[in-house]
Amino acid sequence: QQGPAFDVNAMTLTRWVLAQQRTAPSATGDLTQLLNSIQTAVKAIQSAVRKAGIAKLHGISGEMNVQGEEVKKLDVLSNDLFINMLKSSFTTCLLVSEENPQVIQVETERRGKYIVCFDPLDGSSNIDCLVSVGSIFAIYKKQSEGEPSVSDALKPGRELVAAGYALYGSATMMVLSLGRGKGVNGFMYDPSIGEFILTDPNMRIPEKGKIYSINEGYAAEWEAGLARYVEEKKRPASGKAYGARYVGSMVADVHRTIKYGGIFMYPATKSAPNGKLRLLYECNPMSFIVTEAGGVASTGKEPVLDVIPTSIHQRVPCVLGSKQDVEELLKCLN
Ligand code: AHG
Ligand code: MN
Ligand code: MN
Ligand code: MN
Repeated sequence: QQGPAFDVNAMTLTRWVLAQQRTAPSATGDLTQLLNSIQTAVKAIQSAVRKAGIAKLHGISGEMNVQGEEVKKLDVLSNDLFINMLKSSFTTCLLVSEENPQVIQVETERRGKYIVCFDPLDGSSNIDCLVSVGSIFAIYKKQSEGEPSVSDALKPGRELVAAGYALYGSATMMVLSLGRGKGVNGFMYDPSIGEFILTDPNMRIPEKGKIYSINEGYAAEWEAGLARYVEEKKRPASGKAYGARYVGSMVADVHRTIKYGGIFMYPATKSAPNGKLRLLYECNPMSFIVTEAGGVASTGKEPVLDVIPTSIHQRVPCVLGSKQDVEELLKCLN
């Protein structure tokens, strides 16, 4: 039986977030307002990403960021969109962005109770060759009294109120978790009405997958246990070998891992003993989401969500995905 030609009762992200607010007696509507401001930023970024070449938004901006990376024009545009939409939501007091060396203090008259750590454009090295990119965000509620300061953002991922990502892939999708066992939900962007529609309710990561995802270009620098694990995936003592998939945009690699199962690894290497991925706005939000979807996320030594941050751009090794796959790797590492 065909679905309706035009859904006159679509479950939009805006509706869904509002319905969630109604289930929380103490809710003030601030988180709803905050999530809607992020939704607006994502809609604008997806439009820019999909017009980048024509709108002369490909290529570099000529600056270098605190990460020592060449900043792409879309990095700057995405960052400005996140900052402006978050500040004008009157729900945030402190922002941490991959693209800003220091924390961003929201001016007093526009402050709210939330702290948002975000990667405005993830995978930006893939922009000019049209490979999927994303945005990632992590939301804390300020615990301390008084002026917001960097210590308010240096909280373990366990304390996150919500986390999510947008994937600008063959379609645009937002994936969001409000934690506390409430699961993970996926919303596909419908350009015909400019809304995100709930298409993937209660996303669960398979217990075990058949895909491993790692940048094999660094194989010479892997620790022995990791090399043994990857070898076993390629040439198993018994059973079928795993498939290999690596996009190089964390959002794309993690989304595939949640949808299909398997394991994503950005490990420590000799030249990068803490790996490359940043704790506050890449590893924590993605670990929060994978964990809420029934998966496991570890630094190799401890759950990512237990790490007490010491600086806003600190990096941690990160292995995440299907429970059985990650646990098998952890046995090889320890
Ligand atoms: P960003 O573009 O936000 O700086 O992040 C890029 C990250 C992440 O998206 C991806 O998993 C990783 O860089 C890929 O790094 P390698 O190219 O070293 O594999
Ligand atoms: Mn970057
Ligand atoms: Mn990133
Ligand atoms: Mn980025």
